[in-house]
Amino acid sequence: MQHLIDNQSCVRCPALVANRSRIVHGYGDPSARIVFIGEAPGQHGADQTGIPFTHDRSGARLQRMLTALGLMNNSQPTEHPRWQCFVTNVVRCCPPENRTPTRTEQINCLPFLLDELTQLNPYLIIPIGRLALRAVVEYYLETDPGSIRVAHAIPLRTNSRIIVPMVHPARISHAQIEAFIAVMQEILDAMRKCGLL
Ligand code: URA
Repeated sequence: MQHLIDNQSCVRCPALVANRSRIVHGYGDPSARIVFIGEAPGQHGADQTGIPFTHDRSGARLQRMLTALGLMNNSQPTEHPRWQCFVTNVVRCCPPENRTPTRTEQINCLPFLLDELTQLNPYLIIPIGRLALRAVVEYYLETDPGSIRVAHAIPLRTNSRIIVPMVHPARISHAQIEAFIAVMQEILDAMRKCGLL
């Protein structure tokens, strides 16, 4: 379990530098070839712990889904997750009042995400929410992803990867969780059979 990047000195976005407690890079098992990509560290969660999707409601919901998928051993959400995947964000600093990061902030932060994706070479990518969906689909497919609600849990395939968009845990419904788990279980079973997991 590790961070792939240890940069704690970026000052490209003044509003984020003034607000953040720390820079939160991705965390998890870099050999798992599965990456979940969120929006930005939550004010009461990752900004405090330094680990994406911990110690807040979105983190608890995502961690419960990871447990259901067999990608995390803990039965309860934890601040010290040992998940069999990598979890990161498009933007590495917590925006004031948890607002959506601006387009400029997303672009400023993109090199960190691209660096992680290059190192991880993921087979399965789960963009979490509208902002991550756009970043991932623009990068890998060079197209407009459309709405996250329509794209949710519908796999998009490139030559060597599968992208499964997911509505952000802050807004996801029970039916959307079930649809996502069902699709993911099929893909993870296939990955286990080919030794990719
Ligand atoms: N915590 C994160 O790390 N990312 C999100 O998108 C939400 C909460």
